[in-house]
Amino acid sequence: MSERVTVYEVGPRDGLQNEPSLVATGDKIALIDLLSDTGLTRIEATSFVSPKWVPRMADAAAVMAGIRRAPGVRYAALTPNLKGFEAAKAAGADEVAIFASASEGFSRQNINCTIAESLERFAPVAAAALDAGLHLRGYVSCVVECPYEGAVAPEAVASVTDALLGMGCYEVSLGDTIGRGTPEAIDRLLARLTATIEPARLAGHFHDTDGNALANVEVALGHGLRTFDSAIGGLGGCPYAPGARGNVSTVPLVQMLAAGGWEAGLDLTALRRAEAFMSDRVATAPKLVRTAP
Ligand code: HMG
Ligand code: MG
Repeated sequence: MSERVTVYEVGPRDGLQNEPSLVATGDKIALIDLLSDTGLTRIEATSFVSPKWVPRMADAAAVMAGIRRAPGVRYAALTPNLKGFEAAKAAGADEVAIFASASEGFSRQNINCTIAESLERFAPVAAAALDAGLHLRGYVSCVVECPYEGAVAPEAVASVTDALLGMGCYEVSLGDTIGRGTPEAIDRLLARLTATIEPARLAGHFHDTDGNALANVEVALGHGLRTFDSAIGGLGGCPYAPGARGNVSTVPLVQMLAAGGWEAGLDLTALRRAEAFMSDRVATAPKLVRTAP
């Protein structure tokens, strides 16, 4: 029997937070509903962040209110602070994610504080989430390279990852935010992290700027990671990571996993339906063309 891998769909959040085209709230809801019929069990639907910082996520509450809740699917949202957490809880998020950075420059640009300040800010969010019985996930951005500071040391990633796990995150997703990670760099990073952290508590979140994301997934599988974030159609980027491309695209990821004998439990036809739906609605469509069959 083939071994199970979880694909964590982040397209509706990471994919659309920086999308140049204005995607209607109804279309976001329709996309999430289509994704809910693909076998995915985890979908990051939106983020409850400041609408001044990320205008594309200003409709978070309306998105959460409009989606159909499929049984067995966990709908997650990013929450940068208690204000965001309270809104996510009120909107019925099953899971919230706190998101830190391994580099000071990105932390400052993305969430307007130092790494240490961010961890102080996340501690009460984590406590409130666990208290409310919600699943709590963590992210560490810039695990390989920072758009403002260059190379990031694995030790810095380990320290922030430990802090997030210590707050009760069931898993920390490792963000190659600008997609510059080579398989060699990911190998070095994971050799360090898995020396002290169980691989089951780590996920890979590889943006695909340099076309290395699938190779990086292969490397991470070799280190025992079994959860990978992806975005339908390879949508996305971060408004505070200039030049970053989308996440690894869901359909090619699932195809690669299947070819390697991994079981993701996903319906490729249904995923392609969701991909086709989005390709008509976003300016980043050229990237979608590449993902067909
Ligand atoms: P700040 O300006 O320092 O916050 O931003 P503040 O506490 O001083 O508040 C300023 C204003 O924002 C106030 O409103 C607050 O009420 C409001 P005003 O009084 O001026 O009208 N505000 C909020 N409104 C709605 N929801 C909230 C919220 N919080 C404050 N939650 C803050 C600090 C963290 C809020 C801001 O920097 C922010 O929202 N940043 C989010 C940036 C973001 O979403 N980036 C993309 C996601 S991370 C990512 O993509 C990386 C990842 O994919 C992994 C990877 O690839 O590496 C996860
Ligand atoms: Mg990302």
